[in-house]
Amino acid sequence: MNTVLVDFDELISRLDLPAKIRLLTGADMWSLPPLPEIGLDRLVMSDGPIGVRGEHWSAADPSIALPSPTALAATWDVELVGRAGLLLAQEARRKGVHVLLAPTLNLHRSPLGGRHFECFSEDPYLTGEIGAAYVEGVQEGGVATTPKHFVANDFETDRYTVDVRVGERALREVYLRPFERVVRAGAWGLMTAYNGVNGTTMTEHAELVNGVLKGEWGFDGCVVSDWTAVRSTEAAALGGTDVAMPGPSGPWGRRLEAAVREGRVPESAVDDRVRRILRLAERAGALHPAGERPAGPAGAPQAAPGGPAEVAGAGGIDRVAGGGEIDGVALAREVAARAFTLLTNDGVLPLAPGTRIALIGAAAREARVMGGGSAQVFPEHVVSPLAGLTGRAEVTYALGTDPRVRLSPLPGPVTAQFLDRDGALLAEQPLATGEARWIGHLPPGVDGARLAEVRLLAAYRAEVSGEHELSVIGAGAFRLTVNGESVLDAEIVPEAGDPAAAFLSPPERRVAVPMTAGQTYELTLAHPSGRLGGLAIVSFTLGHADPSPGEDELLAEAMRAATACDVAIVVAATTPEVESEGFDRADLRLPGRQDELISAVAAANPRTVVVVNAGSPVELPWRDEVAAVLLTWFPGQEAGSALADVLLGAAEPGGRLPTTWPARLADAPVTAVTPVDGRVVYDEGVDIGYPAWRRSGAEPAFWFGHGLGYTTWSYDSIAAEGTTVTVAVTNTGDRPGREVVQVYAGPRRTLAGFDVVTAEPGQTVLTTVFLSERAFQVWEDGWRTVEGEHTVAAGRSAADLRLSATVKI
Ligand code: BGC
Repeated sequence: MNTVLVDFDELISRLDLPAKIRLLTGADMWSLPPLPEIGLDRLVMSDGPIGVRGEHWSAADPSIALPSPTALAATWDVELVGRAGLLLAQEARRKGVHVLLAPTLNLHRSPLGGRHFECFSEDPYLTGEIGAAYVEGVQEGGVATTPKHFVANDFETDRYTVDVRVGERALREVYLRPFERVVRAGAWGLMTAYNGVNGTTMTEHAELVNGVLKGEWGFDGCVVSDWTAVRSTEAAALGGTDVAMPGPSGPWGRRLEAAVREGRVPESAVDDRVRRILRLAERAGALHPAGERPAGPAGAPQAAPGGPAEVAGAGGIDRVAGGGEIDGVALAREVAARAFTLLTNDGVLPLAPGTRIALIGAAAREARVMGGGSAQVFPEHVVSPLAGLTGRAEVTYALGTDPRVRLSPLPGPVTAQFLDRDGALLAEQPLATGEARWIGHLPPGVDGARLAEVRLLAAYRAEVSGEHELSVIGAGAFRLTVNGESVLDAEIVPEAGDPAAAFLSPPERRVAVPMTAGQTYELTLAHPSGRLGGLAIVSFTLGHADPSPGEDELLAEAMRAATACDVAIVVAATTPEVESEGFDRADLRLPGRQDELISAVAAANPRTVVVVNAGSPVELPWRDEVAAVLLTWFPGQEAGSALADVLLGAAEPGGRLPTTWPARLADAPVTAVTPVDGRVVYDEGVDIGYPAWRRSGAEPAFWFGHGLGYTTWSYDSIAAEGTTVTVAVTNTGDRPGREVVQVYAGPRRTLAGFDVVTAEPGQTVLTTVFLSERAFQVWEDGWRTVEGEHTVAAGRSAADLRLSATVKI
């Protein structure tokens, strides 16, 4: 931790009330205003959590895209997650970001939760441990985190207004527990949620923010609002949220100044906020009260001689990437393989050398590597399964079926032009695809006040003859021309509902255009754009699809390929309309005709492997018809390379389920995400996830903790003394392997500790697992330890416990 002593009170005493209050609201979409008079830089924030998007929500500003949080949690590996955190810090420094708006610590209460992929687990202990490793990793790299969304933001429907009714015991033992853990790990920031809890919106929740978080837990960091969540002057100021984002408008400013002058809000509440912001800035390297600009922060590694140069970030961050650059591409690939979870395997995997593969599915060619919403980043490249396997195995590709609801972005190069009212060119920017997005910041040289139109230009060379489909995805007026002729001229109006959903999952308008193979077509898409409420938001996509031979022919072609090859690998995925921020899921089915495709391919070739490319549970009705099911989650930018590593046996799939996988939605014990009279009642109490499955008696498809790997293990012995448990396991297979030893204990036999071990064939390893004291405690107006004898059990999942011992607590 930084040991430089900064006299925050002295700095605060140099500021007048308007200056202090100005600091409490964003200067724009992603930053707080600088105060040069006290050496405070502009403090820059960015989403999170799979990469660091930076201030430019745009493909022109690429980022490393790691696997999604469900995948990170599936590694059950705090060391690996810590390294991922360090990489994110390196990315943040490269982009001039001081505060990473991550990790997401809400829970997998219902599999229908739209941001399920963005949360770690159904288990509060696993969530807390993985979350703490993430926080520690990022902050060790000198960048702040804001674990979010405090608290009970476990679903999306009516998220701005919904009131979650949850009992005190469930709140403490389940929903607050991961937050308590990361506060103990030393989080420098935290983000409050949009929703209310027990009648008070979280931004104004004095009891939970001032009382529990800042009081009881002694949190000395900075509480940032979720975007636009501060909706009141006094109540939010008294409620404990420190910073209202974004800005510059908002309910504080002049109105808060008046509230302070009139004695409705004490000035000490403003000073406390300023102190917390300054502390955050000092920790993240954005405060230089004496004017000094050190080469690196105290406690952070310095650049090696000849190492990476100082980062010239937008926020003027004077950090250097120290301790050697982390190779983001290599780490993304390593994390992906370690997260892949082998659910079933009749021995078909790993594939023998020389296996001829029929690779089938839309997602095999266009992997879905991340979920939708603010968690999106723009990677420089994405390795699809097809690209990853090509050159490493003999591959025949077939689409099989196309489940996409919206067309994919037109492949680039595409040029974006920014024009003023008179048609004068303000700037031009190359794009990798037809996806055009600038949120918060327009490209350099574009003055938002003058911007009147954004235009995409592409010279598209058709590869096949026939009716191509072009589409416009977005809201507002659009004019699409092909070789100068208008083919679409429309005003697209989004459906009413969550404004974020309208933007995250916008409507689409399609048009069919005949094209001839080998010919090039000049496409122009013009869209009047400007500032929305003072914020620059440009977001639309020019989509494209080749002519399709029709679904029946696609299926027949896939079956022919499956029959002709040694093994069929079907990559099945959810679509952007299924897993995203802004809305919840309606069901757990794989979209389109993918289930039908898998059953047909399995009938054509018994050696069919299904690769499930989804961030959260989907029903797998064909799971007993296929030779293996491998879950890749949303695997990040190196998807295909990691998949080839695992399928071909160069790497073992290391994942274990961080959430119980239902066979059918109808069996899941807790599902409700739709408010009734503005409320969602968590009436299941403390039992969500596997404890709820156990209580309900229903059998899931796969239990929490399940995952196979490529070797076998025996659980040999267990010894337990208090909260220290030692377990011996032996690798009984014929290749080296990695095992996640899980220990369950306490009144509800919940996860109390875990460790990752590796062993050579025949080798026995001992691991000592230190159990969480909370596992033996219940909340009854305070934590009470349940004293007496307890069973502790070690095993491979919540339902596969191999050894047990008794301890006295
Ligand atoms: C999301 C946050 C995110 C913020 C900024 C909100 O809509 O809920 O998770 O950090 O936007 O993009």
